[in-house]
Amino acid sequence: MKIRETTGKDKNVIFHLHRDAFGEDEGEAVAQLAVELLEDKTALPVLSLVAEQNGQAVGHILFSSVSVIGASVNQAYILAPLAVLASHQGSGIGTALINRGLDILKARNAEFVLVLGDPGYYSRTGFVAGHNISPPYELAYPQAWMAQELKKDALKNIKGKVQCATSLSSPQHW
Ligand SMILES: CC(C)(COP(=O)(O)OP(=O)(O)OC[C@H]1O[C@@H](n2cnc3c(N)ncnc32)[C@H](O)[C@@H]1OP(=O)(O)O)[C@@H](O)C(=O)NCCC(=O)NCCS
Repeated sequence: MKIRETTGKDKNVIFHLHRDAFGEDEGEAVAQLAVELLEDKTALPVLSLVAEQNGQAVGHILFSSVSVIGASVNQAYILAPLAVLASHQGSGIGTALINRGLDILKARNAEFVLVLGDPGYYSRTGFVAGHNISPPYELAYPQAWMAQELKKDALKNIKGKVQCATSLSSPQHW
């Protein structure tokens, strides 16, 4: 499997991946979000990676920049969205995309990464709940709001509400 950063030419492929992975109900909205985030200046810097097998794009992950209101944060991200083609799920592609993304962000000197997702899945790659950064809206499942330090103690003294990119700040995504 090859993992590479995406370019402007990958937009259709990215849309298709998310629509396929998230299915009929959610697919269209998540696919739209992925594409909008890539064009959203308030999301910068972003990290967008695609996984390819035999020349076919089989997974995509996006990290976009966040800040924390009232706190001093140099560089932090939120992971959203992540998708693996339905036909290729369960073979390690999602995990590989997360781990590669975290490695690249660490090398960029990022401080931490947030995610809203299934704790059973994201705890496998080091995300934990119980930090002091609040989500933009009250959540039905607060334990799904997790974070991971990329630098030692990066979250220790950070408290406040997260500020995400405009396209990710719409209530439908929370
Ligand atoms: C969720 C998703 C990204 C995972 O990617 P993937 O490539 O299928 O996952 P991986 O192969 O890396 O990991 C699979 C492992 O995670 C486990 N897993 C998958 N989803 C899980 C969940 N929700 N809770 C706990 N474990 C989960 C699998 O049982 C499997 O375990 P095993 O390795 O012990 O067999 C992918 O299935 C997907 O695109 N799903 C639809 C879209 C979606 O829900 N995206 C995430 C939004 S937060």
